[in-house]
Amino acid sequence: MGKAQTIFVCQQCGKESIKWLGHCPDCDGWNTFVETLRAAASQTATIHTSNTPRELCQIADEDKPRLSVSMEEFDRVLGGGIVPGSLVLIGGDPGIGKSTLLLQICAIIAHGHKKVLYVTGEESLGQMRLRAKRLGLEGERLFVLSETNFESILAHIQQVSPDLVIIDSIQTVYLDELGGAPGSVGQIRECTMRMMQWAKKENVPVLISGHVTKDGSIAGPRVLEHIVDVVLYLEGDPFSAYRLLRGVKNRFGSTNEVGIFEMKNEGLAEVANPSEVFLSQRSKETIGSAVVPTLEGTRPLLVEIQALTSTTSYGPPRRIANGIDFNRLLLITAVLTKRAGLALGNQDILVNVAGGLKVNEPAADLGIALAIASSLHGVTIDPALVAIGELGLSGELRAVPQPERRISEAAKLGFKRCILPLTKRPNAPSSIELISAASVREALRMALPKGGDKASAA
Ligand SMILES: Nc1ncnc2c1ncn2[C@@H]1O[C@H](COP(=O)(O)OP(=O)(O)OP(=O)(O)O)[C@@H](O)[C@H]1O
Ligand SMILES: [Mg+2]
Ligand SMILES: [Zn+2]
Repeated sequence: MGKAQTIFVCQQCGKESIKWLGHCPDCDGWNTFVETLRAAASQTATIHTSNTPRELCQIADEDKPRLSVSMEEFDRVLGGGIVPGSLVLIGGDPGIGKSTLLLQICAIIAHGHKKVLYVTGEESLGQMRLRAKRLGLEGERLFVLSETNFESILAHIQQVSPDLVIIDSIQTVYLDELGGAPGSVGQIRECTMRMMQWAKKENVPVLISGHVTKDGSIAGPRVLEHIVDVVLYLEGDPFSAYRLLRGVKNRFGSTNEVGIFEMKNEGLAEVANPSEVFLSQRSKETIGSAVVPTLEGTRPLLVEIQALTSTTSYGPPRRIANGIDFNRLLLITAVLTKRAGLALGNQDILVNVAGGLKVNEPAADLGIALAIASSLHGVTIDPALVAIGELGLSGELRAVPQPERRISEAAKLGFKRCILPLTKRPNAPSSIELISAASVREALRMALPKGGDKASAA
């Protein structure tokens, strides 16, 4: 072998270069290249020479069933249990509850007479014990190991021969033979790849956790997302107890499913009827509040949008968006000003989604517009009304996907009227009245009792 070679690797996207670069041409990152020892990479290629091509129909069916977690919210996101031999990445902000969730899953699996090995690189065994105690978990068949050296972890895994392995977190694990600190792209990628090979060879599932960086990607990130089979993100507002587990990639099921949990003293509890919970704190007859039936994956979720407008006292008017996209707020504000004649030019506007939820769907546009208009005019929106519709730039209301699901969820929770875009009439329960509107101006007139269209009347 020649002398050890070093290369430079972008810590954001994994691009390699033989010389240092200040700016990454692939991901536009600045100062992201770090010198790394090039390891004997050819070694991985030889492992597979014993594999020969086989006819697809000759391969025996996998008869090992999925490991069901009997935690419906988690199973739903995975598409029904953990597939044997799969590598699942659970990402999330620091402190959001990844370790808590993983430990709870372990306990459930171990309770079902399976052996589980939980490898922690971040906490001492004493801390683990404390957490388990707080969560009220027993520890039978649940083995814990505090270790960060990958080779040594692998040796322990072989020895314990568990039915499920947890690595918490992948950023703390390192391979001696590689240069670079734990958590660098090279380390994370290589460790993940080897874990994957092990999982596939032994047909044992592995769950790994990873922190995300400030910009929301898993540190050493997109590289990881394509290696692993399943990527889940645990997200939520740090000041709210609710956590959403979102499927971002899934080789064995649909993505975009969400599981909804509440962080309690005893750990993450499933929230079975989220719409009810998120609306429970809503006081009727509130100015600047509108309810929108959104869709999270295939699941309808009613959320309350709150808006507050107040006359700007100094400088240019401010826009603050909590839980919705800032640019979306600018667009809606512009459409309301231009197409519905609302005088928002001298108003600060704050929009917030109750419960710390995030709503990314354009289907929520109309609800946001109604909340803003309600606050501006100081009138309440009928508390039994929900609104769906995307706003176009000329003020028209556009159709949204799957209106039926949204409407029936609203009906189930006792809402009586729904404003929606003028399209083919969706099927809806008779308890809810459908009101179609072609434009945002029309929708405002219908939703706001009076003064809703003040500007145009003047
Ligand atoms: N005694 C407690 N009672 C209620 N909730 C608690 C308690 N202790 C911790 N928590 C919750 O658990 C969260 C930490 O969970 P956890 O350690 O699982 O997060 P994590 O995502 O693994 O964090 P890290 O990135 O640091 O590993 C805290 O933010 C807090 O919300
Ligand atoms: Mg943790
Ligand atoms: Zn890059």
